[in-house]
Order: sequence, then C-alpha cells, then structure tokens
Amino acid sequence: MARPDPHSYLDPDQPRVQALDLALDVDFARHVLSGRVTLDLGAPAAGALDLDTKGLVVHAVTAAGGAAVPFVLGDEEPILGRRLRLDLPGGTRRVAIEYDTAPDALALQWLAPEQTEGKRHPFLFSQCQSIHARSLLPCQDSPTVRTPYHAEVTIPDALAAVMSAGPAGDRAGPRPGTRTWLFEMPQPIPSYLVALAVGDLASRDLSARSRVWAEPGTVEAAAYEFGGVEEMIVTAERLFGPYPWDRYDLLVLPPSFPYGGMENPRMTFLTPTVLAGDRSLVDVVAHELAHSWTGNLVTNATMEHFWLNEGFTVWAERRIVEALHGPDALALAWSIGQQALDGSVARFGAESPLTRLRTEMAGVDPDEAFSSIPYEKGARFVVALERAAGREAFDRFVRAYIARFRFTSITTEQFLAFLDGELPGLADRVGARRWLYDVGMPADAPVFRSDALEALTALAEGFAAGTRPTPAQAAAWSPSELLVYLQHLPRQLDHGACAALDAALALSGRGNHEILVEWLTIAAGSDYEPVFPRVREVLTRVGRMKYLRPLYTALGRHQRTRQLARDVYAAARPGYHVLSRRVVESVMESYDGA
Ligand code: BES
Ligand code: ZN
Repeated sequence: MARPDPHSYLDPDQPRVQALDLALDVDFARHVLSGRVTLDLGAPAAGALDLDTKGLVVHAVTAAGGAAVPFVLGDEEPILGRRLRLDLPGGTRRVAIEYDTAPDALALQWLAPEQTEGKRHPFLFSQCQSIHARSLLPCQDSPTVRTPYHAEVTIPDALAAVMSAGPAGDRAGPRPGTRTWLFEMPQPIPSYLVALAVGDLASRDLSARSRVWAEPGTVEAAAYEFGGVEEMIVTAERLFGPYPWDRYDLLVLPPSFPYGGMENPRMTFLTPTVLAGDRSLVDVVAHELAHSWTGNLVTNATMEHFWLNEGFTVWAERRIVEALHGPDALALAWSIGQQALDGSVARFGAESPLTRLRTEMAGVDPDEAFSSIPYEKGARFVVALERAAGREAFDRFVRAYIARFRFTSITTEQFLAFLDGELPGLADRVGARRWLYDVGMPADAPVFRSDALEALTALAEGFAAGTRPTPAQAAAWSPSELLVYLQHLPRQLDHGACAALDAALALSGRGNHEILVEWLTIAAGSDYEPVFPRVREVLTRVGRMKYLRPLYTALGRHQRTRQLARDVYAAARPGYHVLSRRVVESVMESYDGA
C-alpha cells in the first residue's frame, strides 16, 4: 500500500478514528504528561490499527470492558517516529491507550518560572504543526484524518489551562492542590490543531466572542494591542462568510514561542513580540484569524499541499489588511512579503524542488522545508487567479470553494479540479500548472506597487549615494514604511552611517520587533559594536525563529560577531524551543566554513 501521507503511518485501509477523548495529567516536576486517550472508531472494527507516536511510553491498551489489546511499537524512524500497531479484537469500537510523553517531546516546551514574565510559576505550551502531535498523543497524525475531541486536563490549582477547544468547566482534581479543566471541540479538526497551554494566565474580554489570555503582567498590554479584533472578525466574515468556530480567543505566550502565531482553532497562539504597543503588528492576528477558513475549515491533505493552507491564508490576510487599512498599507505588506520570499528562494536556490508549491516530501522533515515560499509564492498565485478572474467572480469562487470543502482535507489536484469546474479555462490562462509544479517564480508573477512604496524604496536605494530622508519625512513614516525603508538599505554600512541612522530613527530602542530585528541585522552584519548588547538582549529573550535566523546569520559575517553568536547561544540555548535550537545550529554550522 502506498502511504497517502509521507509523514504518517496512517493506513487508509484501516479504520479511521472518528473522535478523541483525552485525559492529561500535567507533571511540571518531571516534564511529563500522563495521558489516556480513548479513540472512537465509529463502528465495530477488528485487526490492525496503525498510529503515529514519537517518544511516547505506552503502558497499556484496552478495549471497552478492560480487555487488553495486543500492541507493538515499531522501530524509531528519523522523521516519522515509531508506529504503534494495535491488534484490535473483533467488535472493538473504542480503544483506550495509557501513556506518558517524553520530557523532550517535540510538541511541548516546559518553561521554568524564570522564563516567564511573572517569574513565579512554570509554563507549558504545545506546538503540534506539522507532525509533532504524535509526541503528545498516539494518533493518526495526518491532516486527512479529522476528529472532534473532548479533553480533561489536570494541573496545579494556581494555574489555568487553555486548549484549541471550547471551555467546558472545571472541577477539583484527583489529588490535593490540583484542578481538572474540561474542554470540548465539537467540530472535526486534524491532529496538528490539537493544542494546550498551562500557566499563570489572566484574561480580558475583547468582545462578546473574543477574549485574550496572557500572563497577568502582559494581559493589559495584550488587551490594548488586540482591541480591534472584533472589527477584524467582522471584516473577515464579510469576505469569507460567517465565522464558523463560535469563539475566537487569543493566547499570548512567553517569548520563547518559536512562531509568530499558530491558528489553533478557537484559541490563536501568539508570540509576545507582536505587542509593539501601537497595534502595528496585528497583521499576524489577521493571518491566524484567516486560517479559520483557509486551513482550519479547508485543510491541506498533507504537507505536500501546505501552500493551500498558507498561500490562501496570506492572500486572505492581505484582503483583510486592505479592507481595514487601504491600498498603501497593502502595497507595503506585499513588499515585506517579497523580501521574505526572495530570502527563502536565495536560501534554497532558485532550482530547489522546495521552491515548488506542490512539493514531494517523502524523507523530508517539514520543519526543515519550512520557508516563506508556500506563503508568498502561494499568495501570489492566488492573486494571479484573482486578477484573471476579476475580483467579484473570484470572491464568489472562494466562497464556493470554502462551502464545498469545509471540514475536509484536500490536495492541490482536488483544488485544481474544482477550479476548472467553477471557472473553466482560468487555470490555463494564468499558467496554474507552472505555478504549482515548476521551481522558482514565474516571470509574469503579479506586481504590487504604490507611489508611496516606490518613493520609499528609491530613497533607500539612494543611501549609498548619500540620499537621506529629512527628519520630517522619517517622523511621518508608519512602522511598516520604516520597515520597508530598512529592508531596502544595503546589508552592510560603515559605522558612521550606522550611528547616524540609529540617532535619526531611534532604532535600537524600538519595541516593534520587525523594525528592531531588521535594524539589528544590518548593524550586526556591519560589525557595529554599539548594538551588541541589544543583540544579546533580543537573542536571549526571544525564541521566534523568524528573528533568530537573520540575526544569527548576520552575526556570521565577521570574526568577532561569530564569537558573540557562540557566546550568546551558549547562554540562550536552554531557554530556546528545540525547533529554535535546530535553526540556530544549522545557521552556525555554516560559520565554520566561513
Ligand atoms: N501555521 C503557521 C505556523 C506554522 C506553520 C507552524 C508550519 C508550524 C509549521 C502560522 O499560521 C503562521 O504562518 N505563522 C506566521 C505568521 C504570519 C505569516 C503572519 C509566523 O509564525 O510567522
Ligand atoms: Zn499561517
């Protein structure tokens, strides 16, 4: 049998799990979740059932009535982990697995109190996308399988728990000092959207259907930053139809969270680096919110179709940005995305198979293939379709697409077939198959321009020739304008220019991490010593991979900044997520040849 998902042991000839019932006991002392998961197969089944696991210790497997179910754990494979094969006795409809997670489970980061804002309580969060749910629970860890879930999570009673699910009450826990929190996700979701966080959390209501959770010391700032979320939801609903998941809550994590945001249904997870203080980075929320339709309702069947999630979502995010902030803000967003795209294409090489939208990923670790290509090339492909169809027709198409595939997981080819049916000839007119199956960027990719954008990039490109913004000009820039300006400056500047730039634009003191990191990347790459303390501070506090990669890469340019990187990493490593460590280590490996 050919594996339908190269990243899962899922066997399509076996029963599919129809519902999950999860009981987790959170042990902060041992960094272990003791779990019991009950898999409901929907109908009586018999014989083999293959599940994905990684690092799990399986204690017992039982069928209804407590009868032991024979099981074998296969050998560890590098990307996949270990297959757990159950041998179901005839007539098995529900099977329960008792297990422990590993202290180094890839889905989990356990934070000591010092790594939190409040410094008094430990913190735990999960990040399952793309294939880490199997280190949290045994499951068919492929997005082709969707299940509703119910969960009961036992935690120390000073803490709070949130999940990618609706809250369903809490009760006294099984031991003194514990409480059990209940959750219900009635809609079918793929395993990568199972999510949990536990910590000293407070919340503030943002609207009748939205609330933000964060550590008490951060929650007021978070409530201000996301104060516009209801307007964003209403805008998204106008574009894509009624919000389908009941509540839309947000969780602000400690700064080691390795991503900007994660679209866990009903509970978007966010890096605290989006708390710029002026709402200037809330496009991350627009993005995660947009996944409520593109990604969480209509889901990629496997990681080989990841562009369906992210390309559509970046397109949707920018439609929201356009509706809320207008065409100039939109042109800036596309320009910022272009920089990310160029960076990823340069990193892989223009001929790399990873520059395709539809990828082949057998033997490829999704975390290593991760880049801006599915996002920004994907979004440009969607715009090519939108421009060729005309906006009205394309908006109708998108609504029909969402209606046709809601709560299902689909391939690129299913998308193409639906497109050909709804808008005959369109795919051929834009060269859709080229976009999807060829490497690199098509020569006729959409361009995005505005007079303001052009003036800004021209100003930056004149830097080497001595052109500078006037103080009045610079003072009038929005945060995105300043970012675009910095992105178009030369990557190395002499120290006089660094000093003048920092003095004129107060860059090292910025709270907007996009601007701060862009500046520190230029300055560190220029071996400009006055920023070294700030570089150290950012790299020690923040674990977001998007910032670690460029900063550590820039530090690789010069002898003494390489040493700075090694020193900082030695100190910061214990606080980084495993995925962040991997990114930094791969960047630093390339120093040695330099
Ligand atoms: N779903 C992604 C994050 C992700 C992708 C995690 C693949 C693990 C594997 C999320 O929606 C995302 O794209 N986040 C971006 C934010 C953005 C593009 C505005 C990020 O983290 O930077
Ligand atoms: Zn996304």
